Amino acid sequence: MMAHHPSSSFPEYFRKLSTAYSRQTGDSTFNLIYSFLQHLPADVTLNEQSIIHDNAAGPGTATIAAMSILKQEPAKIVVTDCTPGMIDNIQSKIDQEQWRNITASVMDSHELALPDNTFTLTICNISTSTFKDPLKCMQETLRTLRPGGVCINSQWKRFTVKDIIQKAQTSIRPDSRLFNMPRAEFLDDGVLRDMMLEAGFDKADQYVETTIITDEAIEGLREFMCGNFTTSARSGWTEEEVAKWPAAIDAAIEEEKANYDGIKMEAWMVVARKADC
Ligand SMILES: C[S@@+](CC[C@H](N)C(=O)[O-])C[C@H]1O[C@@H](n2cnc3c(N)ncnc32)[C@H](O)[C@@H]1O
Repeated sequence: MMAHHPSSSFPEYFRKLSTAYSRQTGDSTFNLIYSFLQHLPADVTLNEQSIIHDNAAGPGTATIAAMSILKQEPAKIVVTDCTPGMIDNIQSKIDQEQWRNITASVMDSHELALPDNTFTLTICNISTSTFKDPLKCMQETLRTLRPGGVCINSQWKRFTVKDIIQKAQTSIRPDSRLFNMPRAEFLDDGVLRDMMLEAGFDKADQYVETTIITDEAIEGLREFMCGNFTTSARSGWTEEEVAKWPAAIDAAIEEEKANYDGIKMEAWMVVARKADC
């Protein structure tokens, strides 16, 4: 079914990325959710009783963050993603750790095969802009949350990978069609929060989380930016221009490091609550 109606805008992209995901993201998505879960707003509960959905989970990024904090399994975590390679990844971790309350399945966030009013907490970490229909996915999330349940939905605020790639493009070919992320409107203040309200959530508060990527993690991000995932940024270029790419990426990374001692990434963290009754 996925081959005919891919639910992600980039099924092939995520299939290829699944094996090297945490390295090539510089662990940025993990750092953001791990940090946010450690200082949750007072009205959000993450504890042993939590019944959690890690929605469009990638390789279970938020699940691993939650487990690092809880140090024991909560009542339940359901991990879903539409990319089988991502689910294989977290399933190996579940098997290795012998987790009993955590399950992983390939599932489309537009049509969750999950019952109504089930979860106390859904986490959708840095995935919304990759959905074909983000509003529909959040309506599904709302349906599956318990009354009073919470969805933490995060999206890039400063997606520095895009900025570095654009700088490298412009330095080699100032006329380049600039590389962009899908649904870049989510970078803007309030767009994600407003969509949660439009989806039917009762309340939605917006926070900002920051991570600075350093050392070896920068190498992972560099591999991503220099590799095949970004070939569209160099489309139509001569061999000579393409050969300049790694040095141009390095120069843009150095500029970022000079300003922030690393690569600074920021995310909007929206905490949306389903009405209580
Ligand atoms: C940028 S990654 C984020 C993954 C993870 N939440 C994290 O924090 O690292 C986006 C993920 O969304 C998944 N995805 C995209 N569209 C989807 C859909 N319609 N249903 C389920 N998963 C989807 C992709 O397969 C990919 O794993």
